[in-house]
Amino acid sequence: MVRLSTSALVLSLIRLSVSRPFVSRQDDSVSVELDGVTYVNKGLVGFGFIPSDFRESTGDTLGGIGSAIAFKQGTYQILPNGSVTGIMVVHPDRGFNVDGTVDYQARQFEINFLLNPYYGSDNLDFEDAQKTVQLTYLRTILQFDRNNTKSTGLDALGVRPAQSGFPALAIADPAMPIASKKDPRLTIDAEGLVANSDGSYWVSDEYGPYIYRFDASGQLIQTIQPPAAILPMDDDGNLSFTSEDDPATGRTGNQGFEGLTLDPINNVLYAMLQSATIQDGGDDKSTSRFTRLVAYDVSDPIATRPSLIGEWVVPLPISNSKGNTRACSEIHFVSPGVFLALSRDGDGRGGDDTESKYKNADLFSIAGATDIHGTKFDDPSNPIAKKGKLDKSITPAEYVAFVSYIDDDELARFGLHNDDPDDQTLIDAKWESLALAPVGDPDFPDDYFLFTFADNDFLTTNGFSLGVPYDAGLDVDNQVLVFRLTLPSVNPQSVEMALGISASYSKV
Ligand SMILES: *[C@@H]1O[C@H](CO)[C@@H](O)[C@H](O)[C@H]1NC(C)=O
Ligand SMILES: *[C@@H]1O[C@H](CO)[C@@H](O)[C@H](O)[C@H]1NC(C)=O
Ligand SMILES: *[C@@H]1O[C@H](CO)[C@@H](O)[C@H](O)[C@H]1NC(C)=O
Repeated sequence: MVRLSTSALVLSLIRLSVSRPFVSRQDDSVSVELDGVTYVNKGLVGFGFIPSDFRESTGDTLGGIGSAIAFKQGTYQILPNGSVTGIMVVHPDRGFNVDGTVDYQARQFEINFLLNPYYGSDNLDFEDAQKTVQLTYLRTILQFDRNNTKSTGLDALGVRPAQSGFPALAIADPAMPIASKKDPRLTIDAEGLVANSDGSYWVSDEYGPYIYRFDASGQLIQTIQPPAAILPMDDDGNLSFTSEDDPATGRTGNQGFEGLTLDPINNVLYAMLQSATIQDGGDDKSTSRFTRLVAYDVSDPIATRPSLIGEWVVPLPISNSKGNTRACSEIHFVSPGVFLALSRDGDGRGGDDTESKYKNADLFSIAGATDIHGTKFDDPSNPIAKKGKLDKSITPAEYVAFVSYIDDDELARFGLHNDDPDDQTLIDAKWESLALAPVGDPDFPDDYFLFTFADNDFLTTNGFSLGVPYDAGLDVDNQVLVFRLTLPSVNPQSVEMALGISASYSKV
């Protein structure tokens, strides 16, 4: 029998806790199965925020950061104590537009983060909970149209004709959404973001709905135009990009490409509409659940225009009461054929009501779904789901509920809550972004952190927009949550490529 002195015992206990910094709670985990793989939600491990009235370097209020996020390539690090740090690139949508659209130039913010994951079951108070995700604003990168012209967030009332050379020339633009005939600047309402290994970014938008590629300094280098069925067209079949009225066919107003994600190993870029196109039932929440996911080959986008290589139908969740669609605000690549989907209602802090009933990072698989790209369904006269009834020839994706953002016990661990009271500790209404990063726990090699940011719609009582102060009547912080998940189908190499890090990141 080995006898340890008290001090040796204490020392070995300290060593044990130092060498095992990743201990995760197993008791409350939730698991789901998809394609025969078991995925596990181990719970919320971090919370933080940037205050609603924080101003960025241009002088504007920093807001809307949850619209889209991506780790800046090569910055993610796992620290010896189990904390992780790096730079998150975040993309707001189109500025403070509660009272109408504004001339807000598209931009990205770089934000440094430190995640000190909290695995305890005791409830932290709101002050201590904020220490689990610490955020520091670093800088703003403005984005430009061709010829170094400022982009804008104004409603897209005009159409700029396609550049000569389109579509044969891969970097020539299609017909573009512009502010008006008199103000021919590109107008962008950004909702999705992917960081590429060459420092450029893919940005998806609601007006087009298009996917733009910007270089690291914010200059437009390329535009992807979706098939005709998705393009907003009027009764004459002409493009009509405004978000004020619904088109006759194509993407519904303000329901564009909310979801954007990359399979970096196979160089496939995926974009998903927030809900159904008009012809597929998108004009009514009770018939808008059948949305479209499109895939583009981006292996050599400059030499060859990214081509549509796949298109599938994804059935979004619906409410129990009225059968209304829980529209999808983001997707994230998990493994070939499998994605996370952030589907939710609009309730919570800054929303219509304080009580949220559905806010989830769900999973879906297209393994058994019908690929409709290049078929009659790419013509707007052939709906996939007339009045919301799916065409019998189409098998949709398989969709399963997974991570709930509004689990009362999990929120309470971070001093947060759902429903009344409507105060700073109420969870935000509009979560719109997802990003995965490795935990680096040798005992759980399939574990990943899921980072998710909320879009606060720039709501603050002390705001500044384009040089003018504003009071939105409510303070809604830019909240961030982090979950820990077990995702056995993930190829670690694909996450490393998405983050621009080598496998050595976990060697501490
Ligand atoms: C982990 O280490 C980093 C870097 O030294 C430090 O900033 C952070 O506060 C540490 N986290 C915890 C929970 O001690
Ligand atoms: C950019 O400038 C060139 C040269 O003046 C012009 O031909 C082209 O039309 C401009 N492009 C746009 C989108 O304004
Ligand atoms: C539609 O486009 C055609 C040509 O592109 C044009 O002649 C026609 O006036 C447009 N219709 C409307 C209603 O703008």
